[in-house]
Amino acid sequence: MADSLDIVRSVADLRSRVQYWRDQGLRVAFVPTMGALHDGHLSLVRAGLELADRVVASVFVNPTQFGPNEDFSRYPRQEERDAALLDGAGCHLLFAPTVAEMYPAGFATKVSVTGVSEGLCGGARPGHFDGVATVVTKLLLQAQAHLALFGEKDWQQLTVIRRLVRDLDIPVDVVGVPTVREADGLALSSRNAYLSDGDRKIAPALHRALQAVAAGLREGKSASELCHRAAADLLAAGFLSVDYVEARAAADLTPLDRLDRPARILAAARLGGARLIDNIAADPA
Ligand code: PAJ
Repeated sequence: MADSLDIVRSVADLRSRVQYWRDQGLRVAFVPTMGALHDGHLSLVRAGLELADRVVASVFVNPTQFGPNEDFSRYPRQEERDAALLDGAGCHLLFAPTVAEMYPAGFATKVSVTGVSEGLCGGARPGHFDGVATVVTKLLLQAQAHLALFGEKDWQQLTVIRRLVRDLDIPVDVVGVPTVREADGLALSSRNAYLSDGDRKIAPALHRALQAVAAGLREGKSASELCHRAAADLLAAGFLSVDYVEARAAADLTPLDRLDRPARILAAARLGGARLIDNIAADPA
């Protein structure tokens, strides 16, 4: 078997390649993505290489997790570049299925996680986490890897995936990987490509707003006041609108007003043509 990246497009080919490795006693890691890869995605591949012998990535722009007025059609698609980046990072196999392979005619099943999917991005993007939960369930069952890596950048998504893996007894270890940021604090995202030069200068205000909330919480201030002020600061900085700035319990995303347990401060806001999301930890002393 070649050392460089191979590409498979069918579930059957993916399964047989992973099974071949498993039969040799090799540990397999899986990194699901929607492509337009950047160093955040590649950090998941690198983490996978440290924890396993073989790394499989997927690139699939999943239509069911986009709302009717969202960016599905303009979401960047650049498979050749993605394959070269994965190859350079040491990834062994790319699964790049078609929509028809993932959603064959007559497809009628939905995975819906209650509780942790509600509010935050689930409130702002109705149906989004049903699409994510359904496609991630499929991808995990298709790949049959030992572990799967997801970014903390999408903290609510990571929480939803941990929940569904436990609830559905999917035999995979879910590993969360810290957010990779630009030097000015902006979290790497495929959607940063939508930012104009002017908006790109404004964008780090999102991370700074989260840091201000975390600092205030550590001083014992109330989350609701801090988050309210952070949203106003984002609008003053030039963001068009703020979907939410909230403090939640890190483990299960239940609401929280004081820093009495490990917390996550999460925000989503629109800037130019992009909807940016970010989150950071805030831990009690
Ligand atoms: P996508 O946005 O392409 O992200 C793929 C993975 O990369 C996710 O686990 C995401 O959290 C992680 N990631 C993105 N930016 C990151 C950053 N700056 N630092 C660290 N990790 C980062 O998330 C999705 O795709 C989809 O919803 C998917 C899970 C593939 C299901 O379709």
